[in-house]
Amino acid sequence: MHGTVLTFGTFDVFHVGHLRILERAASCGVRLIVGVSTDQLSIVKKGRPPVYTQAERCEIIGALKCVEEVFLEESLELKRDYILHYKANTLVMGDDWLGKFDEFESMCKVVYLTRTPAISTTEIIEKIRV
Ligand code: CTP
Repeated sequence: MHGTVLTFGTFDVFHVGHLRILERAASCGVRLIVGVSTDQLSIVKKGRPPVYTQAERCEIIGALKCVEEVFLEESLELKRDYILHYKANTLVMGDDWLGKFDEFESMCKVVYLTRTPAISTTEIIEKIRV
């Protein structure tokens, strides 16, 4: 078990897949710090604006028992800076990003966790829409 764990995501329309990955990420270390993607970055990643604002998403994630601290992730290009700034020992990502962050293995442990099947924000939005 290593000290500080860092993970990232948009976490829009909070669902059980989000909760599970955050709880599992927290169990990889002593404290979990979460980079919540800004509205602007989420538009770049997902091609649509999030339903909840970045302030609301930060408030929800920051209220979870398993999360010690949240900050806004401004850009996908800043992972290295965030790892250094927060002195992360472990970077946790969902396996939708499998292999994408192996370049940070010289700085910290990189762990990809399996996504919870059959749930996503996109699917929830679609379900509500019909
Ligand atoms: N995640 C997960 N299981 C799911 C959905 C998401 O473990 N069923 C994880 C992702 O792998 C990521 C984090 O939760 O590490 C935040 O994912 P995010 O992209 O915000 O959620 P999605 O539901 O995948 O959103 P979207 O459908 O908008 O892409």
